[in-house]
Amino acid sequence: MDIIGIDLGTTNSVATVYTNEGLKHISFDGDFLLPSVVNVSNNGVIVGIKAKNMAMIAEENTALSIKRMMGTKKQVVLNGEKFSPEEVSSFIIKKIKETAEKEMGITYNRCVVTVPAYFNENQRDATTQAVKLAGLEVLRVINEPTAAAISYGANRDEDMLYGVYDLGGGTFDISIIENSEGLIEVLSTTGDNHLGGDDFDKKLTNLIWEKSGFDIELSRKLEIKLHQLAEKTKIALSSEPSVHIDEKFFAKKDGEALHLEVEVSKEEFEALIESDIDRTIDLLLETLEDSNTDIDELEAIILTGGSSRIPSISHKILERTGKLAILIEDPDKSVSIGAILQGAMIEGIDTDSILVDITPYSLGISTLKGEYSMELSFSKIILKNTPVPTTKTSRYYAVTEYQKAFEIDVYQGEDEENLESNIKIGEMLLTIQNPVEDGAIDVDFKLNQDGMLSVVGREIHTNEIIEGTFKTKISKSTQHSKVKEMEILTEHDQTIIEKIDKVLENSTILDEDKEDLKALKDKFLSAVVDEKSSIEEEIIDSIFFLEDI
Ligand SMILES: Nc1ncnc2c1ncn2[C@@H]1O[C@H](COP(=O)(O)OP(=O)(O)OP(=O)(O)O)[C@@H](O)[C@H]1O
Ligand SMILES: [Mg+2]
Repeated sequence: MDIIGIDLGTTNSVATVYTNEGLKHISFDGDFLLPSVVNVSNNGVIVGIKAKNMAMIAEENTALSIKRMMGTKKQVVLNGEKFSPEEVSSFIIKKIKETAEKEMGITYNRCVVTVPAYFNENQRDATTQAVKLAGLEVLRVINEPTAAAISYGANRDEDMLYGVYDLGGGTFDISIIENSEGLIEVLSTTGDNHLGGDDFDKKLTNLIWEKSGFDIELSRKLEIKLHQLAEKTKIALSSEPSVHIDEKFFAKKDGEALHLEVEVSKEEFEALIESDIDRTIDLLLETLEDSNTDIDELEAIILTGGSSRIPSISHKILERTGKLAILIEDPDKSVSIGAILQGAMIEGIDTDSILVDITPYSLGISTLKGEYSMELSFSKIILKNTPVPTTKTSRYYAVTEYQKAFEIDVYQGEDEENLESNIKIGEMLLTIQNPVEDGAIDVDFKLNQDGMLSVVGREIHTNEIIEGTFKTKISKSTQHSKVKEMEILTEHDQTIIEKIDKVLENSTILDEDKEDLKALKDKFLSAVVDEKSSIEEEIIDSIFFLEDI
């Protein structure tokens, strides 16, 4: 099967393939988790753990958590060049494709890629474009909690109703799912595209910084280092009552080293994120209401996503809902497993289950509030939690005689009164070849299984078919992107060496420090592969400290 299942995560990505011996997770530098970090230099592109390390000493060339920018027009500048979020993401996918091909010895042409259930049309569109740019065809886009449900349900015969609570690095999703006779049916889903472990790290970063008592400015560089330290502390606090941070040579003031020594307790951390966890449970209760399900009907709440390992989450869920929350067996792999199983289902290999997914948002158009009003409101056409694929038809009347074109603004959201509180996802232009005096058109809004919208219209008098173009916010300029030619490096020694040489040229650095760095460079150059990564860490620490922070 030439399909890869890809969980394109905010902090980590995971890829799974189907083999005759079963499922296999692709390994990146010895780990199945590929940090979703991209570093661009003159030598080429590095993706993964090495890019994450480089973030400390080359933050201006490194993109972190790019998924948070998907579907926006924002750009990042890396190594002096501008990249769109879909271009940066495509580097991650290209790394996955190339690593999988090398490991498995076959060519992968297609993929099933996952997105947060609550991702809107623009974000889904951007993800699809990132996949295409990386040279893969998108077989299907599926929602992350749905993918986790597929992997959870794969080995279970019994029928059950349960919630999937997915708290990752950048996003939170909650879905109510029913498994019945091989049918995996999503009843309702909601979430928050900006709530996850990254936010917890930021809050902890601030706390550690406050506690440090350092009287220096928190530069971008220091912030990145502190963020990585905060993440480590946070993870340790999932299993320990408190963490003692002791980092020598953490920062510099007037040329003097500052040592960071801070104690953080589990209680302090839990208090920091309490309001976020409460919000996730509010959303859980909201989506239960949407699906007309009583909490008592749920067999369990399944936890997935790395952040759901935080113990206070299951405690809080039990406290507020009386329901037991169970951490899924492989919280890091379940989404990717679900993606590849969905690929196998489409190929007819694993036909035991059929998936029925839904749209998490309502889709509609802007309309005038009344005949004499200039104010606009939001008219829903496809309602939230409708199973996909679906088609809904809406009729439009011409406002002028022989009207040739109909322009329709498409929105996604729930607020019918205030148009502006919904998200505009694009515009449709429907042009008629043979307009009539009193024209009217029926427009079919088709939402496919990937949650992507397309439109087609018909003139009701002449029956002329009008192929509407649906223009989303994302520009399609990436088709001719430079990304296609840029090489993904499997090693980046050259980039490290160049960085060392640049530091050695810096006249403000003391000669004795330079000597130490030179010694590290020689050690690095003569090291065997296994030793390289630990020397690399030493080099990064040393450069971080020597350069202006
Ligand atoms: N033991 C742990 N305790 C607390 N947090 C953890 C633990 N292990 C991992 N995390 C956090 O989980 C997050 C990563 O989770 P995951 O890999 O599921 O997210 P993602 O797929 O990258 O993000 P998203 O699904 O939101 O796009 C990180 O913020 C990480 O720090
Ligand atoms: Mg995830």
